[in-house]
Amino acid sequence: MTDAADRPLVLLLSGPNLNLLGQREPEIYGTETLADHVDRAGAAAARLAMSVEHFQSNHEGDLIEAVQGARSRAAAIIVNAGALSHTSWSLHDALAAFEGVVVELHLSNPAGREPFRHTSVVAPVADGLVAGFGGLGYELAIEAVRRLLDGGDAAPQPPAAQPPNEG
Ligand code: DQA
Repeated sequence: MTDAADRPLVLLLSGPNLNLLGQREPEIYGTETLADHVDRAGAAAARLAMSVEHFQSNHEGDLIEAVQGARSRAAAIIVNAGALSHTSWSLHDALAAFEGVVVELHLSNPAGREPFRHTSVVAPVADGLVAGFGGLGYELAIEAVRRLLDGGDAAPQPPAAQPPNEG
């Protein structure tokens, strides 16, 4: 849960195609690279006495293993799962088994985009969502983690949504 200097460890997870940031649809995702965002998150974490470990993969199973590996080791996970945010129940289940803070992060605002992006399967197992702020979101997500770990600002959570009844 902490590093050698006793700072809470935050796992920053990046899903498919985020390795192309800077070149990929810059009109939507901006011109900063993933390395720029990781640096920004790392600097914000250092200011708030936390440390960041980053992992990016284009493969669902690798991301799931990273979440499993964070159990009992990281205090929080910030996850931008790319398009897997909308489809991966396996990632949902892995995050559900993680006992720390989970923040879902997106550069764009998926709710304002194509309908297939309006559903997040990460959302039901996240403490909250930061979306639509571009690179600033990486800083805001780190700040949210710090506040949640400090216990001051957690919003009351509604009961978990039930799946609609079939037939
Ligand atoms: C994204 C939004 C997703 O819908 C998309 O598939 C991505 C990036 C974002 O950061 O805005 O790959 O997660």
